[in-house]
Amino acid sequence: MRRKLVAGNWKMHGSLAENKALLAGVLAGMGDVKAGVAVCVPFPYLSQAQAGLTGSAVAWGAQNMSQHAKGAYTGEVSASMLKDFGCTYVIVGHSERRALYGESDAVVAEKFAAAQAAGLTPILCVGETLEERESGVTEQVVGRQLDVVIAKCGVAALARAVVAYEPVWAIGTGKTATPEQAQTVHAFIRGRVRALDAAVASGLVIQYGGSMKASNAVELLSQPDIDGGLIGGASLNAEEFLAICRAG
Ligand code: 13P
Repeated sequence: MRRKLVAGNWKMHGSLAENKALLAGVLAGMGDVKAGVAVCVPFPYLSQAQAGLTGSAVAWGAQNMSQHAKGAYTGEVSASMLKDFGCTYVIVGHSERRALYGESDAVVAEKFAAAQAAGLTPILCVGETLEERESGVTEQVVGRQLDVVIAKCGVAALARAVVAYEPVWAIGTGKTATPEQAQTVHAFIRGRVRALDAAVASGLVIQYGGSMKASNAVELLSQPDIDGGLIGGASLNAEEFLAICRAG
């Protein structure tokens, strides 16, 4: 049985004061949550997450990292630095990184490999744009994004990773994929992995992300291949985030 994982992606939001209240609110409501829970916070707040969440049921992580181990890469943050701050997870290949910062499939695969080499669990984001969905190439795009990582790291690497299906058109738009639309792509992803390794496929946690909120979480999370959520906007409100966690 796969345990569901609900992770907040705070993106570039928060302050010391806001985070303190948010984390306290989340921790206070964790008693009846069965799913695994994590928050992926901006780099400067990793120490705050570590201080506030150590010993709790909430894990933490980052939203990006360098593909390089160290060196002259001004402004970059390495996987081992994330480990220093107790991170369990790191998001790689978020569509905002791909679209706004030009991260290619190859760079995403390098980041995935570097994360695992440092003992982090990468949350690999895949997903199609609206244009791609409308031209009927969703599975080609998602398949390619997945294949590049499998080609570099091997299918067994997915046993130590999470995949997040995030249709770009659903991110921050309030336009959630229907449970059927999401389930179809999730089943496709699992099927693609199953063709290479059935055991890895059955253990793989595949999250859905894109305007997931308390009001649609139960339906999405009841789909057979949807194993959790990667939550943007709704993760910034403790009650809303907890309601999604409880749905898992
Ligand atoms: P929203 O939940 O704000 O649509 O963002 C989803 C997302 O990008 C999570 O990584």
